[in-house]
Amino acid sequence: MACWWAGWLLLLAEAGGARLEQGMLESWAQAAPWLGNTSGSQASSLQRRLPQGIIIGVRKGGTRALLEMLALHPQVAAARSEVHFFNREENYRRGLGWYRQQMPLSRPGQLTVEKTPGYFSSPRVPARVRALAPGVRLLLIVRDPVERLVSDYTQILHNRQARCKPYPPLEQLLVRGDRGLDTRYKPIQRSLYALHLARWLAAFPPAHIHVVDGGGLIREPLAELRRVEQFLGLAPRLGPDNFYFNQTKGFYCLQAGARQRCLDESKGRPHPPIAKLLLEQLCTYFSAHNEHFFSLAGRTFSWC
Ligand code: A3P
Repeated sequence: MACWWAGWLLLLAEAGGARLEQGMLESWAQAAPWLGNTSGSQASSLQRRLPQGIIIGVRKGGTRALLEMLALHPQVAAARSEVHFFNREENYRRGLGWYRQQMPLSRPGQLTVEKTPGYFSSPRVPARVRALAPGVRLLLIVRDPVERLVSDYTQILHNRQARCKPYPPLEQLLVRGDRGLDTRYKPIQRSLYALHLARWLAAFPPAHIHVVDGGGLIREPLAELRRVEQFLGLAPRLGPDNFYFNQTKGFYCLQAGARQRCLDESKGRPHPPIAKLLLEQLCTYFSAHNEHFFSLAGRTFSWC
């Protein structure tokens, strides 16, 4: 009882503008398998449930591939569109009822998962998630921060070009005269993983956050997904039959029975060439941040 009251007070303090419904919050906690078995009417029907797993980022890290691959698991119900509940004020103000409506229908025992890469680097989000869903499991997929930055730039460039708007070359955005790298450039900021992860670790115990290797997911998806299954407490149901390498796409694609599918053409786009010197400058800049990230994540990557 004491814990319940403490949790409620925390909610009032931290949840800010979100419209909260106590019954919904309780059923959210009950629905998480690691907090106890689902029971009663809540567990007995096909319905929309608040997520027990959230892919929080990182943008251009491979979040779509991770979600779609995970959704091949029979115990997973995935929200196909990005929800942006915790990071967009207009959505957050709509409250948990709205959030739940964005979730897919799920059967009892299935785990609902959503992905919104914007959560990871948004300063207010960790405390908000913690306040509403302290038991939720978080997945963070990362890739080499320089590759991620270039991928981020490429996406913005494509979006601008699609609207017939100009966008400068990356070099121009990254280097300000002779003052070196412009570290205020958003894609650089988003690649400072340690900065953002530290905020999540201030809100959640490390055991609630699993870091996925985005490079590993490209090279050998099954190995990464086995770790994810384990982290989420799912039975190991994904296997080699769920993935096949598509030479044309240059990536693994998904297979469920006779149905085969690759991610759309916005995933796995060619990147514009970047001068070697600039790449080296970026690698040097990120190196200390990366080391810090490895120590926070408890996992090391060979980046740059
Ligand atoms: P690029 O398009 O730069 O290659 P997100 O879904 O977070 O936006 O990440 C997009 C990135 O997912 C792509 O970046 C691509 O490298 C990566 N990715 C990982 N596995 C993939 C797969 N099986 N098919 C396509 N892209 C994949």
